[in-house]
Amino acid sequence: MASSSIIKTIPIMANPNFNVCHKLELLKEEGRSGDPKHQEGEEEVLSYEFQEMLESLPKERGWRTRYLYLFQGFWCQSKEIQAIMSFQKHFKSFQNDVVLATIPKSGTTWLKALTYTVLNRHRFDPVSSTTDHPLLASNPHDLVPFFEYKLYANGDVPDLSGLASPRTFATHVPFGSLKDSIEEPGVKVVYLCRNPFDTFISSWHYINNIKSEAVSPVSLEEGFDLYCRGVIGFGPFWEHMLGYWKESLRTPEKVLFLRYEDLKQDMESNLKKLASFLGVPFTEEEEQKGVVHSISDLCSFENLKKLEVNKSSKSIKNFENRHLFRKGEVSDWINYLSPPQAERLSALVDDKLGGSGLTFRYN
Ligand code: A3P
Repeated sequence: MASSSIIKTIPIMANPNFNVCHKLELLKEEGRSGDPKHQEGEEEVLSYEFQEMLESLPKERGWRTRYLYLFQGFWCQSKEIQAIMSFQKHFKSFQNDVVLATIPKSGTTWLKALTYTVLNRHRFDPVSSTTDHPLLASNPHDLVPFFEYKLYANGDVPDLSGLASPRTFATHVPFGSLKDSIEEPGVKVVYLCRNPFDTFISSWHYINNIKSEAVSPVSLEEGFDLYCRGVIGFGPFWEHMLGYWKESLRTPEKVLFLRYEDLKQDMESNLKKLASFLGVPFTEEEEQKGVVHSISDLCSFENLKKLEVNKSSKSIKNFENRHLFRKGEVSDWINYLSPPQAERLSALVDDKLGGSGLTFRYN
């Protein structure tokens, strides 16, 4: 059976960062001829070869698709596996690339907004641009694209070589599956970590809001059990966190490890840390002008949530932007988890992360 391939042109992204990148040329592998299988709750058509590979992987009930598969040691949907394989095969890192990494629901959208604004502050002044800053008209996911949900999704292989430096991307892929793709000296990774209690509650809300109707809702009890067994997209969460944590200790010039709770408590010092790590520290003059404060305000939960683009559009296929902004608080888990559930998760965190030096504030 021969597969055919087509060159596909996509419209220029809404992202001002990408306007310089003419039109992206994508190579799309079409499904094999014959009778491709369709997975319930997923839109894509899988090739027989890929289906065979998938069937060799351990699987569990999925949260928003029928199954999650254990791929390269982490749990993932079939569609994401295809995109990650394509990314691993085709992506070439450049010096100065910036990769934002998170496990879902750890504040990815926030980190994208902050990093984009810090890196582009000379082009788009966060102090004076009250109406024309890109963040006011674009969701952060349009400004910093995911490898696996955008750039390499659906078999696409984009030409990213013309993007302005520093190219800024995002991923949920664990460090072990990312490291070979970012070997170029000078590539920087920023990891944002959130306490597992709030990450679980945020994931549970989000997934039940966006899941396909073909998949039954995940109850809090069932979701909690899956989460504690490590079965969550890109999990187990402890391995995801530890992978980046250990790398940040080993190569602090390459991996910056931030915490959601620290950002909530003291945004300005964390913004300074971020800017210095990215090689664009704030000058004294900028600090006096209020640049740091303006970035913090522009990217705040309250500001982003109220923007029209974040109320009504979809920046990632099938995901409505409005679901990305729920409460944005620390310790909301207290309103959901029973004392025995909290004890179970607490014991798990102690067991898996104890001794690593990675700790959280979550109540
Ligand atoms: P909650 O569900 O607890 O409210 P991600 O961006 O990785 O999908 O994470 C989503 C979580 O980050 C949600 O948490 C969301 O409300 C919160 N969030 C989004 N934007 C934020 C911001 N600017 N500041 C703080 N939290 C934000």
